[in-house]
Amino acid sequence: MGFDDIDYQNRPVVAILNTWSELNTCHSHFRNRAEEVRRGILQSGGFPVEVPVMSLGEMLMKPTTMLYRNLLAMETEEVLRCHPVDAAVLMGGCDKTVPAMLMGAISADIPSIFLPAGPMLKARWKDVTLGSGSDVWKYWDERLAGQLCDRDWKGIENCLGRSAGTCMTMGTASTMACVTEAMGFTLPGAACVPAVVAEHSRVAVQTGRHAVEMAWQGTKPSTFLTAQSIDNGLMTSFAIGGSTNAIVHLIAIAGRLGIELTLDRFDELSRTTPVLADIRPGGRYLMEDFFDAGGLPAMLARMTGLLHVDCQTVNHITLGQQIEGAEVIGTEVIRSRENPVATAGGTCLLKGNLAPNGCVIKSLAAEPKLLTHRGKAVVFDDYPAMKTQVHDPDLDVDENSVLILRSAGPLGAPGFPEWGMLPIPKKLLQAGVRDMVRISDARMSGTSYGTCVLHIAPESAAGGPLALVQTGDEIEIDVPNRRIHWHISDEELKQRRAAYQPTLEQPERGYEKLYARHVSQADQGCDFDFLTGRSPGSEPKIF
Ligand code: FES
Repeated sequence: MGFDDIDYQNRPVVAILNTWSELNTCHSHFRNRAEEVRRGILQSGGFPVEVPVMSLGEMLMKPTTMLYRNLLAMETEEVLRCHPVDAAVLMGGCDKTVPAMLMGAISADIPSIFLPAGPMLKARWKDVTLGSGSDVWKYWDERLAGQLCDRDWKGIENCLGRSAGTCMTMGTASTMACVTEAMGFTLPGAACVPAVVAEHSRVAVQTGRHAVEMAWQGTKPSTFLTAQSIDNGLMTSFAIGGSTNAIVHLIAIAGRLGIELTLDRFDELSRTTPVLADIRPGGRYLMEDFFDAGGLPAMLARMTGLLHVDCQTVNHITLGQQIEGAEVIGTEVIRSRENPVATAGGTCLLKGNLAPNGCVIKSLAAEPKLLTHRGKAVVFDDYPAMKTQVHDPDLDVDENSVLILRSAGPLGAPGFPEWGMLPIPKKLLQAGVRDMVRISDARMSGTSYGTCVLHIAPESAAGGPLALVQTGDEIEIDVPNRRIHWHISDEELKQRRAAYQPTLEQPERGYEKLYARHVSQADQGCDFDFLTGRSPGSEPKIF
């Protein structure tokens, strides 16, 4: 390879784990960034080695990237364990790459720092500022309702992805980047820097430099990550009005540390954490505005008294020291504690006889009047059935109906896809309806919105009550009281349970077979049962 001894002797070997791929639109700048990370490593006397790992791009992977989150986590862990590396820079961003790489690095327990891909620039169409994901769903509904011509739709398509980077709404990518920073896994302020501004390159170089320092100091995840760090991540996800997906990922991340994170803990923190960032889809602004307003450090500085500021970070200082003095520039985007976007409960946990192990709703992005609702179920047995039936003019549905999708969970789909924002039936769209209560065992994109109850656990394919609901049953949600209720008599439930025939097909080979045998339910983080708990660490067997 053309190296002399002097190139690497007495120098820490720093692996740059790069999730670049030509099929991952959000990471299209990562070739350049990897070079910038390499520059920083060299400047600090390290020996950089770039190691490509699986790229999980939301746009093009089927059936869902979530099916492969654990595969990338395994790859990250094993790549770090089996090579002679002293530290790692984890380059990720598009949704599942973030939790996957964190999970793997925690289990490998090698000094690791995360470099977030950063959000895209804001999109403009005519005189409208568009948000990725969220405005796709919004304008698609308008198109179905006959309000948008082909030319305008094409115009929207052409400008939605304006630059490299992740979705610039507070989708799962930005949520997980912020959570990662709050847990102490990045340089201060790294989460919100737009992907294509000069500052992003500077952060990449600095990350490389710092990784060398981490290698010398032995800053492994086990030296700074605690249950309080996870709490900080969780509170941050609520304060930014973040994606519901963060819940599943944080449970899995905590699981790798041997920490059991229950949905009750989510509920507790959700009730006491105000929403401070006014970002779409729950709010009005976009990630670029958040960055200009002071970014995550400024928002975290407003959470003093809530956060565990004594938590250590990769930066060899506490979170409190990291955010000290961070200034809010844009007070409309980052609100004060006295004038929050919502006083609490941006995301709520519900429980009841339809979801004995819980389910979630992003109440911040829902129609307020629907947060307390009772209506008749319209049940779709699976995604293909929903696609063929939902827009049928003869479907017996009105705006008070409760749309239900099952067979969409971790096992049923399989892979736990983002089907939870069920489409509004076309005839209701044409009548002006834009939100309805929707319930499923699926997830939804962090860029989605609406009154969508998600992650029903146990899922229908695992024999959860959702499998037994029939069209016409009365379903009630009461978000203020954190309750979901299926109005059914004990006798009727018993009869349906006795008549129930499971229909789940078991995959016969390959990764899907491994996945189906070992994946846990939503309330347990969907990690594989053989990967949870603290690992013995990074030492390979020496023969
Ligand atoms: Fe990659 Fe949204 S599609 S972050």
